[in-house]
Amino acid sequence: MMLLSVMAPAIAPLPLMGLENPQTIPRVTTPTVISLQNVSKTYSNNAKALVGVNLEIRRGDFLFITGPSGSGKSTLLKLLYGEERASEGKVLVDNLDVGQLKGDRLSRLRRRIGVIFQDYKLIPRRTVYENVAFSLWAQGFSRKEVQRRLHPALKMVGLHHKVNCFPEQLSGGEQQRVSIARAIVGTPPILLADEPTGNLDPDNSLQVMKILKKLNGAGITVVVTTHDDGLIRQINQPTMQLFNGYLLRPRQ
Ligand SMILES: Nc1ncnc2c1ncn2[C@@H]1O[C@H](COP(=O)(O)OP(=O)(O)OP(=O)(O)O)[C@@H](O)[C@H]1O
Ligand SMILES: [Mg+2]
Repeated sequence: MMLLSVMAPAIAPLPLMGLENPQTIPRVTTPTVISLQNVSKTYSNNAKALVGVNLEIRRGDFLFITGPSGSGKSTLLKLLYGEERASEGKVLVDNLDVGQLKGDRLSRLRRRIGVIFQDYKLIPRRTVYENVAFSLWAQGFSRKEVQRRLHPALKMVGLHHKVNCFPEQLSGGEQQRVSIARAIVGTPPILLADEPTGNLDPDNSLQVMKILKKLNGAGITVVVTTHDDGLIRQINQPTMQLFNGYLLRPRQ
């Protein structure tokens, strides 16, 4: 609700969809938006990815999840957007039991969650514009509404001048920023980023993190997995650590 008011069409001019003044947005309530209750995930080959994880994330939080390769970071995010299901325990997002959702109800929840992937997952033969617009077209937005949303999203990630480029014509950092634009163009209240800086140099990594922080400043709940301790120190936000599927206490 808060986000919708941030993104209201009345906001003009459109840069950042009203995200340029995060300090003006009142934070009145901070209910739990993500809750994992005693969650375990064992894959079909018996790999134990998560063990007895309990985690509460409140609306407007920015949380880092760190941990070595194979510790369960991606699995945890996949449970949140319903790509995988917990073997035990409950995963609640916006008070919905994700493990029980199917079909339309799962699609509706997914529209409320933007996902940024480490490997970008851009469509190679589509332009930047088409890559970002795709999910809006799929949801049946009008051409005018797609236009209205696209340019601020691309401007926010600094790529409005590259709308007609194809992914192969962009650097890794630019491709990652396209994937951020795609994740936020539907104005989701929750943003999950799985190693969004995994393939980027330090400058690009910091730039991407600053974009995520800015989105968080506008009220979006952000969960970021990363290996990059240096970046975590620079951004200075709460951090949880996964180790062999166990979630360890906050590091701060
Ligand atoms: N689809 C799958 N089938 C079987 N095992 C899997 C599957 N996906 C992940 N695993 C296993 O689950 C464990 C956790 O994997 P996950 O991808 O969540 O780790 P991660 O912390 O994201 O690692 P990385 O930092 O390398 O991305 C690993 O042991 C992995 O081999
Ligand atoms: Mg991973």
